[in-house]
Amino acid sequence: MSVIFSDTAKAEFDRLLTRYPDKEAVILPSLHLAQREFGFVSDEAIVYIAGLLGVSPAQIEGVATFYTMYNRKPVGKYHVQVCRNIACSLLGAEHLIEHVAGRLGVLPGGTTRDGKFTLSQVECLGSCGTAPVMQINDDYYENLTEASIDAILEKLR
Ligand code: FES
Repeated sequence: MSVIFSDTAKAEFDRLLTRYPDKEAVILPSLHLAQREFGFVSDEAIVYIAGLLGVSPAQIEGVATFYTMYNRKPVGKYHVQVCRNIACSLLGAEHLIEHVAGRLGVLPGGTTRDGKFTLSQVECLGSCGTAPVMQINDDYYENLTEASIDAILEKLR
């Protein structure tokens, strides 16, 4: 499958090129753009971005696999990312991840059969003061409890 940016995304990519000092610096925002445009960062998207930036696909892949916010495989309509780093962990993240897994019927890394939810465990989401925290698509949910998780997931079902 070949991937190519829409006209809107290509215009945004061209704007990125003017905003950053060098092509390496454009890798991160380009990957965000690709994820938004294609749903996840496929091998094809990596080769495509590498071609646009004139850098090696391996360089792009190294960045894409280093950061957990880039999805290297398709995710569900809602990507539920529960933080398991230290602050969240001290406040029960492990138990909450198990709770979400039980509610969704998938293990971390899995996607529900209807394609609606993917569950991931991630490292610090940068909101340690409001731990435990999860991110679903672009939204943060903080000070989580089993009850608040149930209410959030119920709304999205
Ligand atoms: S440890 Fe969970 S947000 Fe920082």
